[in-house]
Amino acid sequence: MARLDGSKAVVTGGAQGLGAAIVEHLAEEGCDIVGWDVNLEAIQATAKDVAAKTGRSVHARTVDVTDAEAVRNAMDEAAQTLGGLDICVANAGILIAGDSIEFDAAQWRKVIDVNLVGYFVTAREAARVMLEHGGGSIVQINSKSGKKGSYKNSAYASSKFGGIGVTQSLALEFADRGVRVNSVCPGNLLNSPLWVNSLFKQYAQTQGIPEEEVRQKYINQVPMRRSCEYRDVTNVVVFLASSDAGYMTGQAINVTGGQEMR
Ligand SMILES: NC(=O)c1ccc[n+]([C@@H]2O[C@H](COP(=O)([O-])OP(=O)(O)OC[C@H]3O[C@@H](n4cnc5c(N)ncnc54)[C@H](O)[C@@H]3O)[C@@H](O)[C@H]2O)c1
Repeated sequence: MARLDGSKAVVTGGAQGLGAAIVEHLAEEGCDIVGWDVNLEAIQATAKDVAAKTGRSVHARTVDVTDAEAVRNAMDEAAQTLGGLDICVANAGILIAGDSIEFDAAQWRKVIDVNLVGYFVTAREAARVMLEHGGGSIVQINSKSGKKGSYKNSAYASSKFGGIGVTQSLALEFADRGVRVNSVCPGNLLNSPLWVNSLFKQYAQTQGIPEEEVRQKYINQVPMRRSCEYRDVTNVVVFLASSDAGYMTGQAINVTGGQEMR
C-alpha cells in the first residue's frame, strides 16, 4: 500500500522544479492534492500531468503566498475540495543574489516576503485547518542556506534562517495538538530550472567566474560529488509527511550529500 494512501495535501509553488516533483511523489504515495502557484497555466499543466500519471485528484489554484488573506481563503477552500487537510508542503520560494553594498532594499524585502512571511502565513493557516481536522504534518522546503551564510546571497540566507525559527516556534505551539512542523534543507539542485535558467548566470556574475565553471565549483563542494536531485528531497518530504515521522517535530533535516560538513 502507498505510504500516504488517502491523505490530503496542499503544495505551494507546485508548478515547476522541486514543487512539481513534490506534487508527483505525494500523488504516487496516494495523496489527493491542491497545488498553488502564481503561474496558473504552469500549475494547471503540472496538475493535469500528475493526475494522468497517478490517477489521483490533483487541483490547481492561483495563490500568491505573500497575500495573507488569499492564503487563508485558499486553505479553507483546499480543505473543502479535498475533504480535509493532512499535509502542507511550503515550497514556494525565490532567490535574488547580489552584492550587499549595492543590493536594492525593495528586492531584499521581496525575498523575505515570499520565503519567510509567505512560509509563516502558509504554515499558520495550514495549522489552523489541521487543528480542526485532528492534526497533520507541515513540511517547509528550506535550504542548506538556512544553516550557513551564503556568499552574496544575504536576502535568501536570511529568509531561510528565519524559516527555521518559524518551524521551531510553530512546532512548539502545536506539538501537543497533533500538528508537526519540520523543514528539509536541500543542497544544490543543479539540474533544476532555478539553476539552469538563472543561478549559473547570476553566480558567474557575482563570483566573477565563467558560467561553465560554476557547476563544477558547486559539485566540488559536495563530499558525495554529485548534484542534489529531486528524489533525494522528495523522499524526505514523504517520510516527514508520514506517520513514520510521528515523533519528529521542529527539525530541519539536511539533504546535502554531506555538504554542510565542509
Ligand atoms: N533549486 C535549488 O537548488 C534549491 C536548493 C535548496 C532549496 N531550494 C528551495 O526549493 C524551493 C523550490 O525551488 P525551485 O528550485 O523548485 O524553484 P523554482 O523557481 O523552479 O520554483 C518555485 C515555484 O514557486 C513559485 N512561486 C514563486 N513565488 C511565489 C509566490 N509568491 N506564491 C506562490 N508561488 C510562488 C514559482 O512560480 C515557481 O513555480 C524553494 O523554496 C527554494 O528556496 C531550492
